[in-house]
Amino acid sequence: MSAHGAAQPMTAHPATAPLQGTAQVPGDKSISHRALILGALSVGETRITGLLEGQDVLDTAAAMRAFGAEVTRHGPGAWSVHGVGVGGFAEPDRVIDCGNSGTGVRLIMGAMATTAIAATFTGDASLNKRPMRRVTDPLALFGAQAVGRAGGRLPMTVIGAADPVPVRYALPVASAQVKSAVLLAGLNAPGDTVVIEATPTRDHTERMLRGFGATLTTQDTPEGRMITLTGQPELRAQTVAVPRDPSSAAFPVCAALMVPGSDLRVPGVSQNPTRNGLYLTLQDMGADIAFENPREEGGEPVADLRLRHTGTLRGVTVPPERAASMIDEYPILAALAATAEGPTVMAGIAELRVKESDRIDAMARGLEACGVRIEETEDSLTVHGGAVPGGATVASRLDHRIAMSFLCLGLAARAPVTVDDGAPIATSFPAFEGLMAALGARIEHAALTCA
Ligand code: S3P
Repeated sequence: MSAHGAAQPMTAHPATAPLQGTAQVPGDKSISHRALILGALSVGETRITGLLEGQDVLDTAAAMRAFGAEVTRHGPGAWSVHGVGVGGFAEPDRVIDCGNSGTGVRLIMGAMATTAIAATFTGDASLNKRPMRRVTDPLALFGAQAVGRAGGRLPMTVIGAADPVPVRYALPVASAQVKSAVLLAGLNAPGDTVVIEATPTRDHTERMLRGFGATLTTQDTPEGRMITLTGQPELRAQTVAVPRDPSSAAFPVCAALMVPGSDLRVPGVSQNPTRNGLYLTLQDMGADIAFENPREEGGEPVADLRLRHTGTLRGVTVPPERAASMIDEYPILAALAATAEGPTVMAGIAELRVKESDRIDAMARGLEACGVRIEETEDSLTVHGGAVPGGATVASRLDHRIAMSFLCLGLAARAPVTVDDGAPIATSFPAFEGLMAALGARIEHAALTCA
Protein backbone atom coordinates (compact mmCIF):
# COMPACT_ATOMS: atom_id res chain seq x y z
CA MET A 1 0.00 0.00 0.00
CA SER A 2 1.29 3.47 -0.80
CA ALA A 3 1.80 6.17 1.78
CA HIS A 4 -0.69 8.45 0.09
CA GLY A 5 -3.57 6.10 -0.69
CA ALA A 6 -4.49 2.69 -1.99
CA ALA A 7 -1.94 0.39 -3.60
CA GLN A 8 -1.82 0.66 -7.39
CA PRO A 9 -0.72 -2.63 -8.96
CA MET A 10 0.85 -2.14 -12.39
CA THR A 11 1.76 -4.62 -15.10
CA ALA A 12 4.43 -4.34 -17.80
CA HIS A 13 3.86 -6.46 -20.91
CA PRO A 14 6.64 -7.93 -23.05
CA ALA A 15 7.49 -5.45 -25.79
CA THR A 16 6.36 -6.39 -29.28
CA ALA A 17 8.17 -3.47 -30.94
CA PRO A 18 11.29 -1.37 -30.24
CA LEU A 19 11.16 1.56 -27.83
CA GLN A 20 11.62 4.70 -29.87
CA GLY A 21 11.53 8.46 -29.44
CA THR A 22 12.70 11.16 -27.07
CA ALA A 23 12.41 10.81 -23.32
CA GLN A 24 12.14 14.13 -21.49
CA VAL A 25 12.99 12.88 -18.04
CA PRO A 26 12.21 15.01 -14.97
CA GLY A 27 14.50 17.37 -13.09
CA ASP A 28 17.19 16.03 -10.82
CA LYS A 29 15.80 15.06 -7.42
CA SER A 30 18.97 15.80 -5.45
CA ILE A 31 19.39 19.22 -7.04
CA SER A 32 15.69 20.04 -6.63
CA HIS A 33 15.79 19.45 -2.85
CA ARG A 34 18.94 21.53 -2.55
CA ALA A 35 17.60 24.42 -4.65
CA LEU A 36 14.58 24.75 -2.34
CA ILE A 37 16.63 24.46 0.85
CA LEU A 38 19.39 26.87 -0.22
CA GLY A 39 16.75 29.23 -1.61
CA ALA A 40 15.10 29.19 1.82
CA LEU A 41 18.45 29.97 3.51
CA SER A 42 19.22 32.89 1.18
CA VAL A 43 18.30 36.52 1.19
CA GLY A 44 16.08 37.52 -1.74
CA GLU A 45 14.13 35.56 -4.32
CA THR A 46 15.57 32.38 -5.82
CA ARG A 47 14.03 31.39 -9.15
CA ILE A 48 14.06 27.71 -10.07
CA THR A 49 13.27 26.12 -13.42
CA GLY A 50 13.03 22.42 -14.16
CA LEU A 51 12.23 21.57 -10.53
CA LEU A 52 11.19 17.94 -10.08
CA GLU A 53 7.57 17.99 -8.99
CA GLY A 54 7.71 14.56 -7.41
CA GLN A 55 6.22 14.01 -3.97
CA ASP A 56 9.65 13.94 -2.27
CA VAL A 57 10.45 17.43 -3.48
CA LEU A 58 6.92 18.74 -2.83
CA ASP A 59 7.35 17.58 0.77
CA THR A 60 10.59 19.56 1.02
CA ALA A 61 8.83 22.63 -0.44
CA ALA A 62 6.12 22.31 2.24
CA ALA A 63 8.81 21.95 4.90
CA MET A 64 10.58 25.12 3.75
CA ARG A 65 7.26 26.99 4.11
CA ALA A 66 6.90 25.60 7.63
CA PHE A 67 10.36 27.03 8.48
CA GLY A 68 9.27 30.47 7.27
CA ALA A 69 10.28 30.68 3.59
CA GLU A 70 7.80 31.79 0.94
CA VAL A 71 7.68 29.08 -1.71
CA THR A 72 5.55 29.67 -4.82
CA ARG A 73 4.82 27.58 -7.89
CA HIS A 74 4.51 29.69 -11.04
CA GLY A 75 4.06 26.92 -13.62
CA PRO A 76 5.35 23.45 -14.45
CA GLY A 77 8.79 23.20 -12.84
CA ALA A 78 8.94 26.98 -12.32
CA TRP A 79 9.14 27.94 -8.67
CA SER A 80 10.39 30.80 -6.53
CA VAL A 81 11.64 30.84 -2.96
CA HIS A 82 11.82 33.96 -0.80
CA GLY A 83 14.44 32.98 1.73
CA VAL A 84 14.86 33.91 5.37
CA GLY A 85 18.69 33.95 5.34
CA VAL A 86 21.23 31.75 7.14
CA GLY A 87 20.08 31.33 10.75
CA GLY A 88 16.65 32.78 9.92
CA PHE A 89 14.52 29.62 10.09
CA ALA A 90 11.40 30.03 12.25
CA GLU A 91 10.24 27.23 14.52
CA PRO A 92 7.61 25.20 12.67
CA ASP A 93 4.21 25.00 14.34
CA ARG A 94 3.53 21.54 12.99
CA VAL A 95 5.25 18.20 12.47
CA ILE A 96 7.46 18.15 9.37
CA ASP A 97 6.36 15.19 7.25
CA CYS A 98 9.08 14.29 4.75
CA GLY A 99 7.04 11.45 3.27
CA ASN A 100 9.33 8.92 1.59
CA SER A 101 12.39 11.13 1.36
CA GLY A 102 15.62 10.36 3.18
CA THR A 103 17.31 13.21 1.35
CA GLY A 104 14.60 15.66 2.39
CA VAL A 105 14.63 14.80 6.07
CA ARG A 106 18.39 14.50 6.47
CA LEU A 107 19.21 17.73 4.65
CA ILE A 108 16.51 19.67 6.47
CA MET A 109 17.68 18.35 9.84
CA GLY A 110 21.13 19.68 8.97
CA ALA A 111 19.78 23.02 7.79
CA MET A 112 17.93 23.66 11.08
CA ALA A 113 20.39 22.05 13.53
CA THR A 114 22.40 25.21 14.23
CA THR A 115 19.43 27.52 14.80
CA ALA A 116 17.82 27.73 18.26
CA ILE A 117 14.52 26.14 17.25
CA ALA A 118 12.99 22.70 17.63
CA ALA A 119 11.35 20.65 14.91
CA THR A 120 9.71 17.25 14.88
CA PHE A 121 10.14 15.09 11.78
CA THR A 122 8.21 12.11 10.52
CA GLY A 123 7.77 10.19 7.30
CA ASP A 124 6.00 7.24 5.73
CA ALA A 125 6.42 3.61 6.79
CA SER A 126 9.59 3.33 4.68
CA LEU A 127 11.29 6.51 5.94
CA ASN A 128 10.38 5.79 9.56
CA LYS A 129 12.44 2.59 9.35
CA ARG A 130 15.59 4.28 8.05
CA PRO A 131 18.62 5.16 10.19
CA MET A 132 18.92 8.79 11.26
CA ARG A 133 21.86 8.54 13.67
CA ARG A 134 24.17 8.90 10.70
CA VAL A 135 23.06 12.56 10.66
CA THR A 136 22.12 13.18 14.29
CA ASP A 137 25.58 11.99 15.50
CA PRO A 138 27.50 14.67 13.57
CA LEU A 139 24.78 17.26 14.25
CA ALA A 140 25.32 16.64 17.99
CA LEU A 141 28.93 17.81 17.52
CA PHE A 142 27.53 21.23 16.57
CA GLY A 143 25.51 21.20 19.82
CA ALA A 144 22.16 19.98 18.45
CA GLN A 145 20.10 17.36 20.29
CA ALA A 146 17.84 14.70 18.84
CA VAL A 147 15.23 12.52 20.49
CA GLY A 148 13.64 9.81 18.39
CA ARG A 149 12.50 6.22 18.46
CA ALA A 150 14.71 3.26 19.25
CA GLY A 151 17.59 2.84 16.83
CA GLY A 152 17.53 6.52 15.91
CA ARG A 153 14.34 6.19 13.89
CA LEU A 154 11.68 8.81 13.04
CA PRO A 155 9.49 10.34 14.36
CA MET A 156 12.21 12.44 15.90
CA THR A 157 12.57 15.90 17.42
CA VAL A 158 15.72 17.90 16.74
CA ILE A 159 16.58 20.81 19.01
CA GLY A 160 18.94 23.14 17.22
CA ALA A 161 22.09 24.43 18.92
CA ALA A 162 21.72 27.92 20.39
CA ASP A 163 25.50 28.46 20.35
CA PRO A 164 26.75 26.19 17.58
CA VAL A 165 30.42 25.38 17.20
CA PRO A 166 32.01 24.43 13.88
CA VAL A 167 32.82 20.79 13.31
CA ARG A 168 35.48 18.64 11.69
CA TYR A 169 33.91 15.37 10.59
CA ALA A 170 35.23 12.37 8.68
CA LEU A 171 32.28 10.56 7.11
CA PRO A 172 32.03 6.96 8.37
CA VAL A 173 29.80 6.03 5.38
CA ALA A 174 29.93 7.24 1.80
CA SER A 175 26.82 9.41 1.97
CA ALA A 176 26.08 12.69 0.25
CA GLN A 177 23.09 13.09 2.53
CA VAL A 178 25.29 13.01 5.64
CA LYS A 179 27.91 15.24 4.03
CA SER A 180 25.22 17.71 3.03
CA ALA A 181 23.57 17.70 6.45
CA VAL A 182 26.92 18.60 8.04
CA LEU A 183 27.65 21.33 5.48
CA LEU A 184 24.17 22.84 5.84
CA ALA A 185 24.56 22.83 9.64
CA GLY A 186 27.99 24.43 9.21
CA LEU A 187 26.37 27.38 7.47
CA ASN A 188 25.20 28.84 10.79
CA ALA A 189 28.24 27.89 12.87
CA PRO A 190 31.00 30.49 13.28
CA GLY A 191 34.34 29.52 11.69
CA ASP A 192 35.25 26.67 9.37
CA THR A 193 33.33 23.40 9.22
CA VAL A 194 35.34 20.60 7.63
CA VAL A 195 33.99 17.37 6.15
CA ILE A 196 36.30 14.62 4.91
CA GLU A 197 34.99 11.90 2.62
CA ALA A 198 37.12 8.87 1.81
CA THR A 199 34.97 8.14 -1.25
CA PRO A 200 33.65 11.05 -3.30
CA THR A 201 29.85 11.26 -3.26
CA ARG A 202 27.55 13.53 -5.26
CA ASP A 203 28.77 17.10 -4.91
CA HIS A 204 25.64 19.12 -5.70
CA THR A 205 25.60 20.75 -2.25
CA GLU A 206 29.16 21.99 -2.66
CA ARG A 207 28.53 23.30 -6.17
CA MET A 208 25.33 25.02 -5.15
CA LEU A 209 26.72 26.51 -1.93
CA ARG A 210 29.45 28.15 -4.00
CA GLY A 211 26.86 29.34 -6.50
CA PHE A 212 24.89 30.97 -3.67
CA GLY A 213 28.02 32.83 -2.54
CA ALA A 214 29.44 30.68 0.27
CA THR A 215 33.20 30.26 0.65
CA LEU A 216 33.83 26.54 0.20
CA THR A 217 37.05 24.83 -0.82
CA THR A 218 37.83 21.20 -1.61
CA GLN A 219 41.22 19.59 -1.34
CA ASP A 220 42.38 16.05 -2.03
CA THR A 221 44.25 14.73 1.01
CA PRO A 222 45.57 11.28 2.00
CA GLU A 223 42.33 10.71 4.03
CA GLY A 224 40.16 11.69 1.08
CA ARG A 225 38.40 14.75 -0.19
CA MET A 226 38.42 17.55 2.40
CA ILE A 227 35.66 20.13 2.12
CA THR A 228 35.97 23.34 4.10
CA LEU A 229 33.02 25.70 4.49
CA THR A 230 33.31 29.10 6.11
CA GLY A 231 30.32 29.60 8.38
CA GLN A 232 27.80 32.42 8.57
CA PRO A 233 27.95 33.67 4.99
CA GLU A 234 25.15 35.75 3.57
CA LEU A 235 23.76 33.48 0.88
CA ARG A 236 22.42 35.44 -2.07
CA ALA A 237 19.36 34.31 -4.01
CA GLN A 238 20.12 32.71 -7.37
CA THR A 239 18.52 31.47 -10.54
CA VAL A 240 18.78 27.68 -10.64
CA ALA A 241 18.16 25.65 -13.82
CA VAL A 242 17.79 22.05 -12.64
CA PRO A 243 19.29 19.54 -15.11
CA ARG A 244 17.47 16.30 -15.87
CA ASP A 245 18.00 13.43 -13.48
CA PRO A 246 20.49 10.73 -14.57
CA SER A 247 18.91 8.36 -12.02
CA SER A 248 15.47 8.79 -13.61
CA ALA A 249 16.94 8.67 -17.14
CA ALA A 250 18.33 5.26 -16.16
CA PHE A 251 14.88 3.66 -16.47
CA PRO A 252 14.04 4.48 -20.11
CA VAL A 253 17.75 4.07 -20.98
CA CYS A 254 17.98 0.54 -19.53
CA ALA A 255 14.54 -0.37 -20.87
CA ALA A 256 15.72 0.59 -24.36
CA LEU A 257 18.87 -1.50 -23.88
CA MET A 258 16.66 -4.49 -23.05
CA VAL A 259 14.22 -4.21 -25.96
CA PRO A 260 15.65 -5.21 -29.37
CA GLY A 261 15.83 -2.50 -32.02
CA SER A 262 15.22 0.38 -29.60
CA ASP A 263 16.55 3.83 -30.45
CA LEU A 264 16.22 6.51 -27.81
CA ARG A 265 17.20 10.12 -27.19
CA VAL A 266 17.32 11.56 -23.69
CA PRO A 267 18.21 15.25 -23.81
CA GLY A 268 19.80 17.42 -21.11
CA VAL A 269 20.85 14.75 -18.63
CA SER A 270 23.32 15.65 -15.89
CA GLN A 271 26.78 14.22 -16.51
CA ASN A 272 28.16 15.11 -13.13
CA PRO A 273 31.08 12.68 -12.60
CA THR A 274 29.81 11.91 -9.08
CA ARG A 275 26.61 10.56 -10.67
CA ASN A 276 27.67 8.84 -13.90
CA GLY A 277 28.71 5.36 -12.69
CA LEU A 278 25.79 3.60 -14.37
CA TYR A 279 26.66 5.08 -17.74
CA LEU A 280 30.28 3.91 -17.45
CA THR A 281 28.97 0.47 -16.52
CA LEU A 282 26.62 0.38 -19.51
CA GLN A 283 29.58 1.11 -21.75
CA ASP A 284 31.53 -1.70 -20.05
CA MET A 285 28.58 -3.98 -20.87
CA GLY A 286 28.88 -3.05 -24.55
CA ALA A 287 25.99 -0.56 -24.81
CA ASP A 288 25.89 1.74 -27.81
CA ILE A 289 25.49 5.05 -26.02
CA ALA A 290 26.59 8.49 -27.18
CA PHE A 291 26.87 11.69 -25.15
CA GLU A 292 26.10 14.47 -27.59
CA ASN A 293 26.28 18.23 -27.27
CA PRO A 294 28.09 18.36 -23.91
CA ARG A 295 27.54 21.70 -22.15
CA GLU A 296 27.05 23.29 -18.74
CA GLU A 297 23.61 24.08 -17.32
CA GLY A 298 22.91 25.40 -13.84
CA GLY A 299 26.51 24.78 -12.76
CA GLU A 300 26.35 21.11 -13.78
CA PRO A 301 27.73 19.34 -16.87
CA VAL A 302 24.92 17.97 -19.08
CA ALA A 303 24.69 16.11 -22.41
CA ASP A 304 22.06 14.69 -24.75
CA LEU A 305 22.06 10.89 -24.64
CA ARG A 306 21.49 8.78 -27.72
CA LEU A 307 21.34 5.06 -27.41
CA ARG A 308 20.60 2.16 -29.65
CA HIS A 309 19.93 -1.46 -28.84
CA THR A 310 22.46 -3.22 -31.02
CA GLY A 311 22.47 -6.62 -29.33
CA THR A 312 22.57 -8.43 -26.02
CA LEU A 313 24.82 -6.80 -23.46
CA ARG A 314 27.46 -8.77 -21.59
CA GLY A 315 27.53 -9.16 -17.82
CA VAL A 316 30.29 -7.32 -15.98
CA THR A 317 31.86 -6.97 -12.55
CA VAL A 318 31.04 -3.47 -11.40
CA PRO A 319 34.05 -1.93 -9.63
CA PRO A 320 33.03 -1.46 -5.96
CA GLU A 321 34.70 1.97 -5.93
CA ARG A 322 32.10 3.06 -8.48
CA ALA A 323 29.23 2.38 -6.06
CA ALA A 324 28.76 5.92 -4.73
CA SER A 325 28.46 7.34 -8.25
CA MET A 326 25.60 4.97 -9.15
CA ILE A 327 24.13 4.11 -5.76
CA ASP A 328 20.52 4.63 -6.88
CA GLU A 329 21.00 2.80 -10.17
CA TYR A 330 21.73 -0.71 -8.87
CA PRO A 331 18.09 -1.84 -8.97
CA ILE A 332 17.67 -1.01 -12.66
CA LEU A 333 21.17 -2.35 -13.40
CA ALA A 334 20.19 -5.62 -11.71
CA ALA A 335 17.11 -5.80 -13.95
CA LEU A 336 19.17 -5.08 -17.06
CA ALA A 337 21.80 -7.63 -15.94
CA ALA A 338 19.08 -10.30 -15.87
CA THR A 339 18.78 -9.89 -19.66
CA ALA A 340 22.54 -9.78 -20.33
CA GLU A 341 24.85 -12.61 -21.23
CA GLY A 342 26.63 -14.09 -18.21
CA PRO A 343 26.88 -12.91 -14.62
CA THR A 344 26.94 -9.33 -13.39
CA VAL A 345 28.64 -8.92 -10.03
CA MET A 346 27.72 -5.92 -7.90
CA ALA A 347 29.82 -5.76 -4.73
CA GLY A 348 30.42 -3.12 -2.06
CA ILE A 349 26.76 -2.15 -2.04
CA ALA A 350 25.81 -2.57 1.65
CA GLU A 351 24.27 0.94 1.60
CA LEU A 352 21.50 -0.48 -0.59
CA ARG A 353 20.15 -2.22 2.49
CA VAL A 354 19.15 1.13 4.08
CA LYS A 355 17.54 2.87 1.11
CA GLU A 356 13.77 3.32 0.61
CA SER A 357 13.73 -0.47 0.99
CA ASP A 358 16.42 -3.10 1.48
CA ARG A 359 17.18 -2.97 -2.21
CA ILE A 360 19.46 -6.01 -2.29
CA ASP A 361 16.69 -8.12 -0.79
CA ALA A 362 13.94 -6.49 -2.87
CA MET A 363 15.81 -7.11 -6.14
CA ALA A 364 16.93 -10.60 -5.14
CA ARG A 365 13.41 -11.77 -4.21
CA GLY A 366 11.80 -10.08 -7.20
CA LEU A 367 14.33 -11.45 -9.68
CA GLU A 368 13.95 -14.95 -8.25
CA ALA A 369 10.18 -14.64 -8.63
CA CYS A 370 10.80 -13.73 -12.29
CA GLY A 371 12.89 -16.89 -12.74
CA VAL A 372 16.31 -15.23 -12.61
CA ARG A 373 19.20 -16.89 -10.80
CA ILE A 374 20.92 -14.64 -8.26
CA GLU A 375 23.43 -14.86 -5.46
CA GLU A 376 23.29 -12.53 -2.54
CA THR A 377 25.60 -11.65 0.35
CA GLU A 378 25.30 -8.95 2.98
CA ASP A 379 26.91 -6.41 0.65
CA SER A 380 26.69 -7.85 -2.85
CA LEU A 381 24.34 -9.15 -5.50
CA THR A 382 25.23 -11.30 -8.47
CA VAL A 383 22.70 -11.65 -11.27
CA HIS A 384 23.00 -14.45 -13.82
CA GLY A 385 21.71 -13.15 -17.13
CA GLY A 386 19.78 -14.91 -19.86
CA ALA A 387 16.21 -15.16 -21.04
CA VAL A 388 13.87 -13.88 -18.30
CA PRO A 389 10.69 -15.93 -17.79
CA GLY A 390 8.80 -13.17 -15.88
CA GLY A 391 5.15 -13.93 -15.18
CA ALA A 392 5.41 -12.88 -11.54
CA THR A 393 4.04 -10.30 -9.14
CA VAL A 394 6.79 -8.47 -7.29
CA ALA A 395 6.59 -6.39 -4.08
CA SER A 396 7.70 -2.80 -4.61
CA ARG A 397 8.05 -2.19 -0.83
CA LEU A 398 7.21 1.55 -0.93
CA ASP A 399 10.25 1.98 -3.17
CA HIS A 400 9.88 3.88 -6.44
CA ARG A 401 13.06 2.48 -7.95
CA ILE A 402 12.10 -1.12 -7.22
CA ALA A 403 8.72 -0.54 -8.88
CA MET A 404 10.21 1.07 -12.00
CA SER A 405 12.99 -1.52 -12.30
CA PHE A 406 10.58 -4.45 -12.41
CA LEU A 407 8.24 -2.67 -14.81
CA CYS A 408 11.21 -2.15 -17.16
CA LEU A 409 12.16 -5.81 -16.77
CA GLY A 410 8.62 -6.82 -17.73
CA LEU A 411 9.17 -5.25 -21.15
CA ALA A 412 11.99 -7.72 -21.80
CA ALA A 413 10.58 -10.80 -20.06
CA ARG A 414 8.72 -13.67 -21.74
CA ALA A 415 5.57 -13.08 -19.67
CA PRO A 416 4.24 -9.90 -18.02
CA VAL A 417 5.66 -8.64 -14.73
CA THR A 418 3.35 -7.01 -12.18
CA VAL A 419 4.40 -4.81 -9.27
CA ASP A 420 1.99 -4.86 -6.35
CA ASP A 421 2.15 -1.07 -5.96
CA GLY A 422 3.29 1.48 -8.54
CA ALA A 423 2.11 4.46 -6.47
CA PRO A 424 5.61 5.17 -5.00
CA ILE A 425 6.82 6.03 -8.53
CA ALA A 426 5.25 9.47 -7.96
CA THR A 427 7.93 10.30 -5.40
CA SER A 428 10.58 10.79 -8.10
CA PHE A 429 9.11 10.24 -11.59
CA PRO A 430 5.41 11.15 -11.76
CA ALA A 431 5.44 11.09 -15.58
CA PHE A 432 7.01 7.62 -15.83
CA GLU A 433 3.92 5.84 -17.10
CA GLY A 434 3.10 8.40 -19.81
CA LEU A 435 6.71 8.73 -20.87
CA MET A 436 7.19 4.99 -21.24
CA ALA A 437 3.89 4.68 -23.13
CA ALA A 438 5.02 7.40 -25.56
CA LEU A 439 8.14 5.33 -26.29
CA GLY A 440 5.95 2.34 -27.11
CA ALA A 441 5.98 0.43 -23.81
CA ARG A 442 2.82 -1.26 -22.60
CA ILE A 443 2.59 -0.64 -18.87
CA GLU A 444 -0.90 -0.70 -17.43
CA HIS A 445 -2.68 -0.42 -14.14
CA ALA A 446 -3.48 -3.96 -13.17
CA ALA A 447 -6.83 -4.97 -11.76
CA LEU A 448 -6.97 -5.23 -8.00
CA THR A 449 -7.49 -8.76 -6.89
CA CYS A 450 -9.61 -9.15 -3.79
CA ALA A 451 -8.87 -11.99 -1.41
C1 S3P B 1 21.14 11.60 -2.29
C2 S3P B 1 22.15 10.80 -1.85
C3 S3P B 1 22.11 9.34 -1.90
C4 S3P B 1 21.00 8.81 -2.77
C5 S3P B 1 19.73 9.57 -2.60
C6 S3P B 1 19.93 11.04 -2.91
C7 S3P B 1 21.28 13.06 -2.16
O1 S3P B 1 21.94 8.84 -0.59
O2 S3P B 1 20.77 7.44 -2.52
O3 S3P B 1 18.71 9.08 -3.45
O4 S3P B 1 20.52 13.80 -2.81
O5 S3P B 1 22.18 13.50 -1.42
P1 S3P B 1 23.22 8.66 0.37
O6 S3P B 1 23.98 9.90 0.31
O7 S3P B 1 22.69 8.42 1.75
O8 S3P B 1 23.95 7.48 -0.19
